[in-house]
Amino acid sequence: MLLSPFTPLKLPNGQVIKNRLVKAAMEENLGDAELKPSSELVHLYRQWMRGGVGAMITGNVMVDHLAMTGPGGIALEADSELEMFREWSSVVDKGECKIIMQINHPGRQVYKRQGGKALAPSAIPLDMGKHSNLFAEPVAMTEADIEDIIKRFVQTSKQAQKAGFNGVQVHAAHGYLLNQFLSPKTNQRQDNWGGGIENRARLLLTIIKQIRQAVGADFIVAVKLNSADFQRGGFSCDDAAEVINMLNQEQVDFVEISGGNYEAPAMQGRGADEHTLAREAYFLTFAQQLQKVAQMPLMVTGGISNYSTASKVLASKVDLVGMASALAIQPDLPLWWQSRTEFKPKLPKVKLKDKTMTALATMATIRRHLSRHGHGKFSRPIHPVVSLVLDQMKLARLNKRYRKNYIDKAN
Ligand SMILES: Cc1cc2nc3c(=O)[nH]c(=O)nc-3n(C[C@H](O)[C@H](O)[C@H](O)COP(=O)(O)O)c2cc1C
Repeated sequence: MLLSPFTPLKLPNGQVIKNRLVKAAMEENLGDAELKPSSELVHLYRQWMRGGVGAMITGNVMVDHLAMTGPGGIALEADSELEMFREWSSVVDKGECKIIMQINHPGRQVYKRQGGKALAPSAIPLDMGKHSNLFAEPVAMTEADIEDIIKRFVQTSKQAQKAGFNGVQVHAAHGYLLNQFLSPKTNQRQDNWGGGIENRARLLLTIIKQIRQAVGADFIVAVKLNSADFQRGGFSCDDAAEVINMLNQEQVDFVEISGGNYEAPAMQGRGADEHTLAREAYFLTFAQQLQKVAQMPLMVTGGISNYSTASKVLASKVDLVGMASALAIQPDLPLWWQSRTEFKPKLPKVKLKDKTMTALATMATIRRHLSRHGHGKFSRPIHPVVSLVLDQMKLARLNKRYRKNYIDKAN
């Protein structure tokens, strides 16, 4: 029998997601000056909730306010004031829709102009060609740094639970710290945290075990994992299968499958190695391979914006359909699909000569939609280059605010 995207799913912890359509994480850059959720951010999530998604995974929330993925970001730490986080989680009606906080540490993917810590398993800088000098030089982590990171992921999860979220998703994809540990290209440590996949996965596994111990059995604990890094010598699909096999021993409620990193942005549909990605549902064939190993539900995200593609994902026995860009453009897409399955949101098509600029302009265009929805305005098409210029101006302003409030004080 073919599953409809509107069929509920019971997670291993017993919580039920009312349908299979999940808003994937998008960093909204709508944090306030204190790195807390703003009222615009809360409004944006209210719109997604009303638009009929089964669950919303928040944009990444940092476990350390001195290690941010970008300006206008959000951090949740042991001593953070929870009021606005409570507002954020309370947009979901009881049981109607789940809200899951994505928690993250950028590792080496930190902009130089932003400042703060750029920690990594090994001191290997990003290779972004002529754009490499935009990023900070990373420092190889000590044992004490690793212990600190584990503690921070656990503290942030406990705070998310206290603030009323239904769960957390640990970000181990897209080239951020935990992905850097998983990848043999970026993790060249000779100790217990590097070498074979068991060692490279030790940090992720330790964090998951300790989070579960801290939050109990009912809270959702999920992971976002790359199917592969799409780089020669990087984290492979065989590595991903081994990690999922290890995660089978823990109580993980679902694993989201994605791919790529800043150097090879496969999550935007562009690989950098011999693999050609599908034009829609980019990682579906990888997810199907991983499904053979996974004992927990899998979700696949990347390149899904049509009802027919969402149905194809479910027909492939992948349990959840993750969508980011499509829901940024059309927050009420699930409601449309309830009555008109042929409805398609108009996604921005960005093609510039430089692949980094294309990636930045795509992100800028999507972020502009997020900001307009957050401010209660309708989405309007805008040229990607104009979006990029406006976005860079906004980010520069937010960056200045962050440096003044945090980095200058820490130095
Ligand atoms: C503006 C923007 C911000 C994003 N921020 C995050 C993030 O914070 N965490 C994350 O895991 N993925 C992030 N992503 C990636 C998406 O979750 C998703 O994996 C990717 O966009 C592919 O899905 P799509 O084709 O449905 O957009 C972001 C994507 C966009 C466009």
